[in-house]
Amino acid sequence: MPTLIEGQDKDAKDSYAIEKSDITTFASKYLGLNMLHPGGYKASSELAGLCGMSGNSLVLDIACGKGTSSRFFAKKFGCNVTGIDMDEDRLQSAKALSEKDRAIRSRVKFMCANAENLSFADNTFDIVIVQAALYLLEHAEKAMEEAARVTKPGGRVGFLELTWLKEPSNEIIEEAKGIFGRYLTQAKSSAWQDLIANSGLEITEVKLYNYEATTIKDENAFTFLKVLWKMTTNSAIRNKARKNSSFFIKHPGYMGYGLYVGEKRGRGRIVEPEEMMPCLIALTYLQPQAQTPPLK
Ligand SMILES: C[S@@+](CC[C@H](N)C(=O)[O-])C[C@H]1O[C@@H](n2cnc3c(N)ncnc32)[C@H](O)[C@@H]1O
Repeated sequence: MPTLIEGQDKDAKDSYAIEKSDITTFASKYLGLNMLHPGGYKASSELAGLCGMSGNSLVLDIACGKGTSSRFFAKKFGCNVTGIDMDEDRLQSAKALSEKDRAIRSRVKFMCANAENLSFADNTFDIVIVQAALYLLEHAEKAMEEAARVTKPGGRVGFLELTWLKEPSNEIIEEAKGIFGRYLTQAKSSAWQDLIANSGLEITEVKLYNYEATTIKDENAFTFLKVLWKMTTNSAIRNKARKNSSFFIKHPGYMGYGLYVGEKRGRGRIVEPEEMMPCLIALTYLQPQAQTPPLK
């Protein structure tokens, strides 16, 4: 029986784990990236804007990963953010990175929770955000119902999700599943919109974009250099990165992402300026006119 030297055995195991990792684990654990969704800060900023995020907003960031967007929202809008995720390692990073940031550390908090079964009371948050996570779930509809439930009437649920921009063949779907995960088949814009409508929300925005395969530009210089070093020195990491990006080179224009926003109708909903116009006009004309004294 051939015996494996301990170090070699570990290297082989590591290489195997890297090769088999899904895109989230690869980006987060093996590359050490913090930004884990396509479109990066630019897309998050747009999504937050479409949801009407402001300093007064109480925000829930579902499947927050390392809390990169939670911190970004707190910093850019001055709001209070709760981030939840199922992965303890990413949550540890989220807590540690936030603790270092004096400007926002009192306004962000993180906890371990399942998107499909939240412990928050009904109508708790003004805005609920989910970025690049529904496609990972077996019961995305359950997560969407939960997101809608914990949103206040008049509040918004905004999600950023992988979306097929062109109808993929079975072969392309199978290839993509090897990179992104097994529930990717449902990732059609129409299916995401049905999910919003079926959870009782009214769709207010849908925007589709091409996938931006790398969000490395959103990482700080230290992380950038670390990634460069890993790519240069670790052939398993290099091969996996090459394999992931070859999907986009081989099938250009298929995979994209969408920004989807749904509003929870009810008391105190956000009224758009154009909806206000007829009311303002009516009010102007219905004002009691100054009475002219009757002619004698
Ligand atoms: C692609 S990452 C996106 C992370 C983060 N939203 C971002 O954009 O940086 C997907 C995240 O979903 C989390 N996740 C997967 N299933 C979950 C579940 N059932 N409940 C909560 N989080 C979940 C994973 O742990 C992972 O951190």
